[in-house]
Amino acid sequence: KPSTLSVSAVSSETTLPEGHDVIKRALATRALGRVKSGMVIGLGTGSTASLAIEELGKLIRQGKLKDVVGVGANYQSKVLARQFGVKTVDLNDVNQIDIAFDGVDEVDFNKNMLKGGGAAHTMQKVVDSVAKECIILADQSKVVLQLGSTCPVPVEVIPGAISPVLRRLVSLGGIPEIRSALRKDGPVITDLGNMIVDVSFPGGIQDPAELEKNINTIPGVVENGIVSGVATSVLVAVEDGAKIEV
Ligand code: 5RP
Repeated sequence: KPSTLSVSAVSSETTLPEGHDVIKRALATRALGRVKSGMVIGLGTGSTASLAIEELGKLIRQGKLKDVVGVGANYQSKVLARQFGVKTVDLNDVNQIDIAFDGVDEVDFNKNMLKGGGAAHTMQKVVDSVAKECIILADQSKVVLQLGSTCPVPVEVIPGAISPVLRRLVSLGGIPEIRSALRKDGPVITDLGNMIVDVSFPGGIQDPAELEKNINTIPGVVENGIVSGVATSVLVAVEDGAKIEV
């Protein structure tokens, strides 16, 4: 089994109350120990990254971190940052991001990731890849031997190009399905005004970097949710208190 994923286990052996969010919050808090005053922080999307934004806001309000600014990739992270007192700046106004914190839908032992469960992967990939350090916060359920085992690949597509893109995705061996909105009729529309196509690859994804590149060469595709070569560390929350070595 490949062993290139550096995993830091967050133990729940102390007094952590029950509940998944508690474990994820402990993970976020541990990861935020790497933030120093004056840093520019990339703010991720999803429930785990949101806890990191909340905890970052606490550290700023308590005066433990000064002159820290966040770069929110999406509306969700920008709104949460405002709510929790993290000042944000536009990505285009910073030369670099020191650390980005983000969640993930799947991660393998080579730190290849699947993102986009929240339809927010396009700008998140930009922010994560700009960061000097990209720290991924996961729980054990997200760690897989092969990407595509539990989730399809989300692909952001320009609405006017949906039919030809679906055909090309099939020719790549995928089974595409347009993502529908849960609470209203019609498709999910992203922050950038596009549609999301979830593409299953029966048998999993053999070469994530190759598939990432191939999907992105389809005209009409904005970005897909495979992220290879970006994560610098993956922190995995462990619920039973045991240390894990992966
Ligand atoms: C959003 C994402 C999220 O990071 C991913 O879906 C993980 O979310 P959660 O922490 O809620 O499990 O890629 O597009």
